[in-house]
Amino acid sequence: MSERIDRTQVVQTISHVNLHYPEATDGPAAALLLEAAGLVRTQELALPQGGTFYRFTANVHAINRPDNIVYLSPLPAATAALINAARDGLRYGARDEHPAVAAYRAAQASDPEHNFHVGFLFDSLDYLEERFEAFKALEASDPRFAGRLKFLVNRALPGDAAIDARLDISPLYRGVTRYTHGRYGVQAFCETDMIVDGPLGEGLVLEFDYVFPGHDDHIMAVSEKTR
Ligand SMILES: [Fe+2]
Repeated sequence: MSERIDRTQVVQTISHVNLHYPEATDGPAAALLLEAAGLVRTQELALPQGGTFYRFTANVHAINRPDNIVYLSPLPAATAALINAARDGLRYGARDEHPAVAAYRAAQASDPEHNFHVGFLFDSLDYLEERFEAFKALEASDPRFAGRLKFLVNRALPGDAAIDARLDISPLYRGVTRYTHGRYGVQAFCETDMIVDGPLGEGLVLEFDYVFPGHDDHIMAVSEKTR
């Protein structure tokens, strides 16, 4: 090609993320979890090797668009075998387990964004709060979810009276003293081992974000430190 393409004339978005549940029988519950997260289930296919392949979209207005897609299927056998071999090498769960495992878990516990994770942005804080009520209702009412969801939230940095007042009456953020790095937004995390796309197949963090409108310097903006 002799002429470079003008980057500003090309639209690039994230087309999909490809997630996995641990066992073939975990599919329906993992799919239910993603629906509780606000995703729209658009397709499901039974797989010849067992389990179900699901397609979801985050875009309720255009479900057939080729972006905003989340695929969900069973962990492939070769990946499961690799994870098992890695766990054996680390003496995973044994008394003499490699110390890297505990160090990794400690880092992950203090910062849910420490590792690979998938984030979704809502333009409604009310809806974000409702989704976490839905997660908690699943955990309380459906034994498939018992002990398999972990929640953590980061409140917006204090200093904006309207935002502070809104978060003081929030069922999710009231009384919270963990804060986002930036201002004018909130984060909420759901860590689950029903989706296993993390090191050693231990689980994945789903992140949900809301940015308060009207502020250029929000949590997802270019950082002041690097601008
Ligand atoms: Fe994140």
